[in-house]
Amino acid sequence: MARREQSFICQNCGAVYGRWQGKCDACGEWNTIAEENSATARPQMPGRAPRKGRRFALEPLAGASHDAPRLACGIAEFDRVTGGGFVRGSVLLLGGDPGIGKSTLLIQVAAALARNRQRAIYISGEEAVAQVRLRAERLGLSKAQVELAAETSVEDIVATLGEGETPRLVIIDSIQTMWTDMVESAPGTVTQVRASAQNLIRFAKRSGAAVILVGHVTKDGQIAGPRVVEHMVDAVLSFEGEGSHQFRILRAVKNRFGPTDEIGVFEMTGGGLREIANPSELFLSERDLGSPGTAVFAGIEGSRPLLVEIQALVAPTSLGTPRRAVVGWDQNRLSMVLAVLEAHCGVRLSAHDVYLNVAGGLRIQEPAADLAAAAALVSSLANAPLPADAVYFGEVSLSGAVRPVAQAAARLKEAQKLGFARAIAPEGSGEQGPSLQPVASLASLVADIAASGRQRADDGGERLARPTAEDRRRRDVG
Ligand code: TYD
Ligand code: MG
Repeated sequence: MARREQSFICQNCGAVYGRWQGKCDACGEWNTIAEENSATARPQMPGRAPRKGRRFALEPLAGASHDAPRLACGIAEFDRVTGGGFVRGSVLLLGGDPGIGKSTLLIQVAAALARNRQRAIYISGEEAVAQVRLRAERLGLSKAQVELAAETSVEDIVATLGEGETPRLVIIDSIQTMWTDMVESAPGTVTQVRASAQNLIRFAKRSGAAVILVGHVTKDGQIAGPRVVEHMVDAVLSFEGEGSHQFRILRAVKNRFGPTDEIGVFEMTGGGLREIANPSELFLSERDLGSPGTAVFAGIEGSRPLLVEIQALVAPTSLGTPRRAVVGWDQNRLSMVLAVLEAHCGVRLSAHDVYLNVAGGLRIQEPAADLAAAAALVSSLANAPLPADAVYFGEVSLSGAVRPVAQAAARLKEAQKLGFARAIAPEGSGEQGPSLQPVASLASLVADIAASGRQRADDGGERLARPTAEDRRRRDVG
């Protein structure tokens, strides 16, 4: 009798433990470790001769490929993120929170391919065929030649797909509902998800069909998260959005065949996902003109310029350790900008809470946002609105100097296109586009904003720095 190995596997990251524990040491999640039979990798039975290896032919690197290497689906925002279309035999993982719109996006992708007379198959393990049809009808896609099935057995799926003309695209919605006979664990566990994914990946490599696996991101770890298959697939896309917004952002987290910094922007409407070809307009559409604490940042996402609003609130704190909260930007960069403001620009923030938000639910990674963030912070502190027709970009160094950033010309061009007349940016950013007001150091920018704040106060505006009677009373009580 072979001894059955029991092991405890984290359903979030796949780390294996010999016994149960409450917290996974590898990924830090709580209550994600579950008991599973690991009957997959059984050691060689004693007494049996080891299997002889089968010989296979090695091939030259310069082999001829028969088809176009990439197949664009025609939805430009999607194709940009994949790096220009699907590569033959590649496997993509599309992750995202439940309800964010993964199934909607993929049925639209499948329909777009089918419209170009490519064979596209959509296999749902979560919904019945009728439900998928209903959604397609709602999206106005019911005439598309997409082939549907509601199946969860990977062996059945591979057997079915192996017949007839090879499909160009197979969508598996979702990998967590799939199961294979090869392992004994329940569907949704790490062992099952991995084995099913492996089987489907083998099918993709063998047949040349592109496969998209949908993976739900799960917080509670009841079912295995997409992270357990991330390293096996060719590309990992994540579909993100904020509850209160209709924007959805598709981002490549990993891509063996393309860039990882491109984003695709969609809007969820009553008729499905709509492409947003010019996201700057969308992100700036709800702008609060003339209020202090907002700056427009001219950013770059991948190959595309993108203007977004950065909002800051600097308010007197009632806590011993003031709060620093940031949404959509790096916490460490905020700390750095605050330190530079304190050390080199004479801005005292130790008695203030600081909140920073990137509008529209976007996440910015560029250091070029330093200058815009600093401008928004100082504008809020000094109660001085920034000029409504200005964009900001530039990297701030620890010495307080403003450094040039990449692709300045593209940023300026986008700003001009959207009607901005001024750009506050590092020296030498270019002559094209809106009139450039070069800044050499953060201190000079702070001085400018503070001067406009004083001007406003003298003109009868409210001055934030002077404590009001209410503030004084509160302080005396405290
Ligand atoms: P869905 O694609 O089912 O999400 P996922 O597969 O990621 O779980 O999308 C579900 C949400 O999208 C649902 O809350 C309703 C919304 N939706 C629309 O707003 N418009 C539409 O046309 C469709 C099909 C869905
Ligand atoms: Mg779904």
